[in-house]
Amino acid sequence: MTYISSGKAKDIYETPDGNLLFEFTDRVTAFDGLKKAEYKEKGEITCRLAEYWFNVLEQEGIPTHYISCPTPTSMLVKRLDIVPVEVIWRNYAAGSLLRRYNAGEVKLPDGVEPKEGAPIPGGMIEFTTKFEAVDRPVDVKEIQFNGWLSEQEIEYVTKLTKRINEILSRKLDDTGIILADFKVEYGRIPGGEIILADEAGTPDGCRFWDKAEFENGVIKSLDKDVFRKGIGDLSAAYGELFERIQKS
Ligand code: TMP
Ligand code: ASP
Repeated sequence: MTYISSGKAKDIYETPDGNLLFEFTDRVTAFDGLKKAEYKEKGEITCRLAEYWFNVLEQEGIPTHYISCPTPTSMLVKRLDIVPVEVIWRNYAAGSLLRRYNAGEVKLPDGVEPKEGAPIPGGMIEFTTKFEAVDRPVDVKEIQFNGWLSEQEIEYVTKLTKRINEILSRKLDDTGIILADFKVEYGRIPGGEIILADEAGTPDGCRFWDKAEFENGVIKSLDKDVFRKGIGDLSAAYGELFERIQKS
């Protein structure tokens, strides 16, 4: 195996037959790498959750790069030509949407209150750059102008992301968890077809809120916000999430 690169939480290798191997580490970072730590078992929990969701999504007809998990912390995937755009879906206001709103950089959809936990009826999609030093919001015009995705591909990716939201939200709701928002990435296989890449449904790339607490007006995060905000033990939050999803 040849070492290729390291992301925030994963190390990436190429296998002799040209696939990629993701090694999920215990690393966690936030705020573009400014805040860093390691948490025992984080790698294994995120790998097992990514595996779980890839299986669910494949069964529901979403094409993904997932092949198999040879060990509890590693995942074999097809090597793709990665689309240099991250796709964010939001069901509730949180995170950078509110930060950018407060800085006067973005408008909220009509009727959405500018506070964490405000529902966004019908949801909303946003795009950011992937290969720039800092993820920067981009609009569909710039995406097309740079040749990152065509108009038809933006429509396709939007449809897939909306479908992923429906699948994840429904399953999570059964375990009493709200999917507030998430990020996904896509890539092209030879021939050009766009499929789901990276990982989906892990607490590194989604906001998960306990539904019962939410209905009492409290946001209890079961995701990386625990680390971003310094409001608890990441291992405990990830562990609770994993147990609840596993039981469902
Ligand atoms: P944001 O509120 O920081 O824009 O994040 C929205 C969702 O996307 C949240 O669940 C975290 C996830 N996300 C990532 O996983 N990686 C990223 O680089 C960004 C910007 C967001
Ligand atoms: N920059 C975002 C954060 O603060 C995304 C990330 O690092 O995952 O967490």
